[in-house]
Amino acid sequence: MPAGIAKGKRSSTSLQVDPCLQPLPQLSVSPALFQKFQKLIYGETGIWLGNAKTALLCGRLFRRLRELDLDSLETYYERVAGPDQYEERARMIDAITTNETRFFREPRQFQFVVQNLFPRWRVEAEGGLRPRRVRIWSAGCSSGEEPYTVAMLVARYLPAEDGWDVRLLATDISTRMLEKARRGVYPITRSGEIPPDLLQSFMLRGIADREGEMKVKSEIREMIDFRRLNLDQHSDLIEGPFDAIFCRNVLIYFDAASKNRVVANLVRHLMANAHLFVGHAENLSSFSPQLRSLEPTIYIKAGDTENRVQSV
Ligand SMILES: C[S@@+](CC[C@H](N)C(=O)[O-])C[C@H]1O[C@@H](n2cnc3c(N)ncnc32)[C@H](O)[C@@H]1O
Repeated sequence: MPAGIAKGKRSSTSLQVDPCLQPLPQLSVSPALFQKFQKLIYGETGIWLGNAKTALLCGRLFRRLRELDLDSLETYYERVAGPDQYEERARMIDAITTNETRFFREPRQFQFVVQNLFPRWRVEAEGGLRPRRVRIWSAGCSSGEEPYTVAMLVARYLPAEDGWDVRLLATDISTRMLEKARRGVYPITRSGEIPPDLLQSFMLRGIADREGEMKVKSEIREMIDFRRLNLDQHSDLIEGPFDAIFCRNVLIYFDAASKNRVVANLVRHLMANAHLFVGHAENLSSFSPQLRSLEPTIYIKAGDTENRVQSV
């Protein structure tokens, strides 16, 4: 059992059987079964579903049960927890994860990138302190809006024509979201999230049977490698170390133990003096002595210039 779960304040022996809310009148989950799902999901992802999330569990798994023609979560658990059921567990994770995202979410951070980070990298490159090479990781990229936002800014401000070699790694645990991200197709109604000049330069408007859609241009899509990765598992990424990592609105789903593991993993993949961006509800001050807060949601990894030049 993973450390710190199903113990102390998390045990829920006093809970009654909780019939899930409409429109799923036939699904119900007993406290004991809910705890089994809690542990399974935690073990697979680091995501901790609090005891108040019974309706969420039922709601999100309902469609999958229907697809499998199963009529109870009990039966589904027996299936999904089977030792060789990797694919079914991936489907369960697809259903359980919260994937809300948008282009230019938390615009203050992108202002920081354009006004502080890019100029700094440019000055360093001009001073011979770094090559014109930048590596950025969007960790928990969902359907791609976050890495595409960064890629559009890079294409505009650090263009390949000026000798910049910039690549992005974008990872998520949800295969369904990664498929969407790789396609790079979004409803045209979302175009208002993107500044007009970038929209015009880097998005294609669908016509005929693609009316109502927009698609990220290939020059932007090709800057990004999308890959499935569980942030709660130790990973060695050959693409790193990174000059900047965006891990926004992901850590809120973890408990303290998994958050600790994930932050340690992220910090390990950051170069010295590189930046980590988190979501507005995520404070990392107590999580890593190597991180110094520059402003809310933006951290820098402690280190000296010598370290950084070595690690490039
Ligand atoms: C709310 S979205 C955030 C998307 C984007 N970063 C943003 O801020 O707009 C959270 C994403 O984290 C992913 N996620 C959750 N647990 C994860 C894990 N253990 N490893 C990798 N990704 C995970 C989910 O699949 C989901 O797509």
